[in-house]
Amino acid sequence: PRNCLWIPILLCLFNELSFAEAESSTILLPSQQHNADSVSTTFCAHCPAPDPSLNYRPVIGILSHPGDGASGRLSNATNASYISASYVKFAESGGARVIPLIFNEPEEILFEKLELVNGILYTGGWAKSGLYYDIVEKIFKKILEKNDAGDHFPVYAICLGFELLSMIVSEDRNILETFDRANQASTLQFVKNINIEGTLFQRFPPELLKKLSTDCLVMQNHHVRKLCFMYG
Ligand SMILES: *[C@@H]1O[C@H](CO)[C@@H](O)[C@H](O)[C@H]1NC(C)=O
Ligand SMILES: *[C@@H]1O[C@H](CO)[C@@H](O)[C@H](O)[C@H]1NC(C)=O
Repeated sequence: PRNCLWIPILLCLFNELSFAEAESSTILLPSQQHNADSVSTTFCAHCPAPDPSLNYRPVIGILSHPGDGASGRLSNATNASYISASYVKFAESGGARVIPLIFNEPEEILFEKLELVNGILYTGGWAKSGLYYDIVEKIFKKILEKNDAGDHFPVYAICLGFELLSMIVSEDRNILETFDRANQASTLQFVKNINIEGTLFQRFPPELLKKLSTDCLVMQNHHVRKLCFMYG
């Protein structure tokens, strides 16, 4: 989050500096400018002022997963679905607001909601077929359409979500290999010469990336082709 805040501020500074340079050959630091126009009005003069009537925090849709999320302790209803609070908190901790997309609500409502969000998060879970799979696929195709049309519409798929996207993109429902590790801590070894540019890991501090390969900082929780949850 700190990096995200800094980038726009730095961009504004660069704008301001090149503007100052064009006007006179002297570049002044803000502390040297107190006799010129007030710093607060010249700083970032080219950035449009935020519209106070708008909320700039992105809205992220999270697709609910079949079941009650508590092994039937709360409900065995066949139409029950849930979203683990951790996914909501994850999105909110990045500054986003969340609206739930209920996988088994009427499709016209679900796809109307899809038009109101800036991105989608697919959660972990176990459902790899049926209505849930179909809805994940339909939403994903809609997301591709949006991006193809120039709308920057991110999708973030965790665990089962990532498995489902692998199945959908490859058009191969058997693409997943067996991997059985439940509740186990491990290191994370990147494939040699992998390029992390453009991936989640791009923003990891280098020392943390290094630590991932030596310390057991990663939780593996995959049950053979059945369940995939992941906790950060
Ligand atoms: C759901 O089914 C399980 C297994 O039959 C049972 O133990 C549990 O009490 C049920 N849950 C509810 C909320 O009725
Ligand atoms: C699930 O079905 C029950 C019984 O038909 C209904 O009362 C309830 O509103 C439904 N819940 C959802 C989330 O659709």
